[in-house]
Amino acid sequence: MQIVILKNAAEVAAYGADIFTQQLARNPGSVLGLATGSTPVALYQELIRRNQAGTVSFSKAKTFNLDEYLGLNGEHPQSYRYFMNEQLFNHIDINKENTHVPPGDAKNPIEACKEYEARISAADGIDVQLLGIGRNGHIGFNEPSSGLTSRTRVKTLTKATIDDNARFFAADEYQPHLSITMGIGTILDARKVVLLATGENKADAVHAMIEGPLTAACPASALQMHRHAVIVLDEGAASKLKDIEFYKHIEAENQKLQEYLASL
Ligand code: GLP
Repeated sequence: MQIVILKNAAEVAAYGADIFTQQLARNPGSVLGLATGSTPVALYQELIRRNQAGTVSFSKAKTFNLDEYLGLNGEHPQSYRYFMNEQLFNHIDINKENTHVPPGDAKNPIEACKEYEARISAADGIDVQLLGIGRNGHIGFNEPSSGLTSRTRVKTLTKATIDDNARFFAADEYQPHLSITMGIGTILDARKVVLLATGENKADAVHAMIEGPLTAACPASALQMHRHAVIVLDEGAASKLKDIEFYKHIEAENQKLQEYLASL
């Protein structure tokens, strides 16, 4: 894992935006894996700003979102499809037909999960997958005990996740307890993975992901198996890491290596 520790959430968002900007510059037809939650919002705002300034284009890109609430259609304000339209797609030059979010209103959700996997494969897989992390270490909606090689499927949410996400729902509003989520195996198949975490309330999960054992008890620890996972943290999210000075040292050396390679 490449562990990047930055001062604050704004720097994390800019770093993440750089990764997507560079990816699209290299290959305008890239397949991007996207995420919801509050963490990626600042990154999306930065991508919108860059798109409107003409420094990045999504006109040939395809996107696949990690997850969706089962039981909500895309017009529901709490659905992740609605979130993506509002937070990103409505403001950039992407062709909406090239954007994919698991269908929360599928008549046959089991079949819809298989179709979602097939669509990702037909697009030749995901180039860069963006991730956040839940306080219990979940990625997408892969809750603790998720199979480490799992594929897109219907998943029950933990009480912790339901409580964490209750802030988005009105008190009398129906809040789904089920989701469709890419599996951990699906996520690990992405050619590059970028996980963003900000704030001290993520520090325990971040510590478990990076320094704990590889275990289904912390689904994000599966990224230890990925050949190109970049973990981008602010000081708060990094605050419980034991080897923080070592990670900063590696990054400084990495910068020097990049400069050396560029000079050859
Ligand atoms: C939700 C999403 C995850 C996200 C997590 C953390 O449960 N399914 O993809 O990473 O919340 O969200 P936040 O960034 O708001 O802390």
